[in-house]
Amino acid sequence: MEEPGKRPREAWGSKLGVILAVAGSAIGLGNFLRFPVKAAQNGGGAFMIPYFISFLLLGLPLMWVEWTIGRFGGGFERSTAPGIFETVWKKNRFIKYFGVIGIFGPTVIFTYYTFIESWLLGYSVFALTGKYAGCTDQGSMAGFLQAYQGLVQNEHFSSVGTAYLFFLITFTVNILILCVGLRAGIERVCKLGLLVLFAFAVVIMIRVVTLGSPDAARPDWSVNNGFGFLWNPQWAKLKEAKVWLAAAGQIFFTLSVGFGVILTYASYLRKQDDVALSGLTAATANEVAEVILGGSIVVPAAFVFFGPQGTTELAKGGAFNLGFVTMPLVLQHVAFGQFFAFAWFFLLFIAGVTSSISLALPAIVFLQDEFNLDRKTASILFAFVTFNLCQIVIFFNGQGALDEMDFWGGTFCVVVFALIEVILFAWVFGMDKAWSELHSGSDIRIPKVYRFIIKYVTPAFLLLVLGYWIVQEGWPTMKLENVPGEKVPFVIGTRVLLIDLFALLSFLVWLAWRKRGRKESAA
Ligand code: ALA
Repeated sequence: MEEPGKRPREAWGSKLGVILAVAGSAIGLGNFLRFPVKAAQNGGGAFMIPYFISFLLLGLPLMWVEWTIGRFGGGFERSTAPGIFETVWKKNRFIKYFGVIGIFGPTVIFTYYTFIESWLLGYSVFALTGKYAGCTDQGSMAGFLQAYQGLVQNEHFSSVGTAYLFFLITFTVNILILCVGLRAGIERVCKLGLLVLFAFAVVIMIRVVTLGSPDAARPDWSVNNGFGFLWNPQWAKLKEAKVWLAAAGQIFFTLSVGFGVILTYASYLRKQDDVALSGLTAATANEVAEVILGGSIVVPAAFVFFGPQGTTELAKGGAFNLGFVTMPLVLQHVAFGQFFAFAWFFLLFIAGVTSSISLALPAIVFLQDEFNLDRKTASILFAFVTFNLCQIVIFFNGQGALDEMDFWGGTFCVVVFALIEVILFAWVFGMDKAWSELHSGSDIRIPKVYRFIIKYVTPAFLLLVLGYWIVQEGWPTMKLENVPGEKVPFVIGTRVLLIDLFALLSFLVWLAWRKRGRKESAA
């Protein structure tokens, strides 16, 4: 029976709707920008071995874990990690505070992800209006991007003002979708968004694979050799631990596992809804978008125009360079380039929106669930806090604020949170109960070997990744090694703000539980 005064819970409109929402969360900038660059940097075809091993031993198990405990927690009307974790480990008074990571992480990622997303909206408009048409080489296109971001001033932009305008539009679009709700907002946007995204991606992919070898003087700079450049395995790379770490990191990022968002999406399922096949389907859709579409666009296209040497250099410059600098240059050389450039940036913008709305959801739903706020009020409160945090990202981007947020929200929290989830699932819940919960209402039977994998292999793999990562990158970053002196105060300032945010969320959890405790003892 519903408590008097308590708002009715939202629900998904259809089974396909929730699968598309999870796929929408997963398919993002990671698929089209981050993946091809990671593959090119880490051994080409050989990267796919640690990548698929990570998919099978980390990504897929975590996908199932999150769908299952999310739906389980939803049965107790809990939709975010603090409450869901408590339904799994009832006797532990502290587990809810570990759950704070599942609200903190996605909120932090949201603050910088929406800023990057807004660049894509800006660039889709610039592609149509021809604003960057005068930039015909890497240097001037990179200068255009830096001026747009407010990092330098030049003939293209004299301040961050234009970027700020596109940020305001992007931020408002996100908040409006969230205000509308689960079914009419998120579900509808993901259904339509994924359709447009796949259509645009296929059109651009066809354009790239039919490029042939446009420069008669350099016949070996062909699209076929571009695919070879990306996929020919460099087996020696497999001996390098950092290649394995890069593959595991890519799997987390691309599938949106370890963020806390799939928990929230799955919490709106009913007990009899399938999670095993749905999780597998969402993960598979993401892999198709990543390996087939993502792997067939940026790198082969760059190869055709810049050759092996040039593409290697460009890949070293990172995902953003390839996306915002190289792709617009490449597309200047093809017929109807303006349209293709628009399609490229707009498809990335849509991929970004369907991911960022999922990142915002845990914090909003937490306010709804635990403080009985309506969706609009919760969304506006969330907007107020994150809008302020975004200012740091926008105005102190050049001082390392964005990287700092990415380090804590997008890397550290994700691995730690995933480890907690899998331990709760396999060891606290217990594998027998967990396995039957995973199969309740299920449309498929998962191979039994996954009982063993989820119980032993996934946690061990996660511990290894975490340990190695802390030694390699985590500890030096925490000690501010490699941060130039002038940036140190800004990086520390960002860190203090993040600690404040974590403390605020922990306090809200404490407050909500106290309120709940009082209500229960009064009942
Ligand atoms: N999974 C999302 C992406 O790939 C965050 O961008």
